[in-house]
Amino acid sequence: MIYPIVALGNPVLKERASEIELNHPELKTLINDMFETMYNASGVGLAAPQIGKSIRLFVIDAEPMDEEKLKGAKMVFINPLRVEEEGEPWPYEEGCLSIPGIREAVKRPEKITIQYHDETGNSHKRTFEGMLARVIQHEYDHLEGKLFIDYLSPFRKKLIQNKLNDILKAKAKAEYPIRFIPQGKR
Ligand code: NI
Repeated sequence: MIYPIVALGNPVLKERASEIELNHPELKTLINDMFETMYNASGVGLAAPQIGKSIRLFVIDAEPMDEEKLKGAKMVFINPLRVEEEGEPWPYEEGCLSIPGIREAVKRPEKITIQYHDETGNSHKRTFEGMLARVIQHEYDHLEGKLFIDYLSPFRKKLIQNKLNDILKAKAKAEYPIRFIPQGKR
């Protein structure tokens, strides 16, 4: 099932998500649906809050970004916890399915060490680096209620404010099902 993606302005994107029981009966279906929703939107990562569920769960498949190095980078992160980030912060233009039509450079540390459970329930503590680390950092932020635009300088943010307002007013367009906040309810 393809879920509509929740757009900027929805309070669920600002919440810290809660842990989910590993043996939750709907977890498998939810993971499959998240991959389906992500691929349908041509995304490389999707966090549960982006489909309106405040759960500590995200999926990634970064292969389209760098076919050689990121082969097999299809992963599920359940109840992830950031252990540490290290290395020289480097900039890269990021986008987000919840913020259609906007790409901005964000600096992130080179490496992230993260604890998580995979889809079979096994727990891992792994360090990721480079582009894979970046995708994980971006999705992890969603579970903490943080968006990539939160890192922008006031100047950069001002430059894109009109586009952000279009999203908030449900005037933006996306090439996938998206759920803007209902107008008149703010
Ligand atoms: Ni995002």
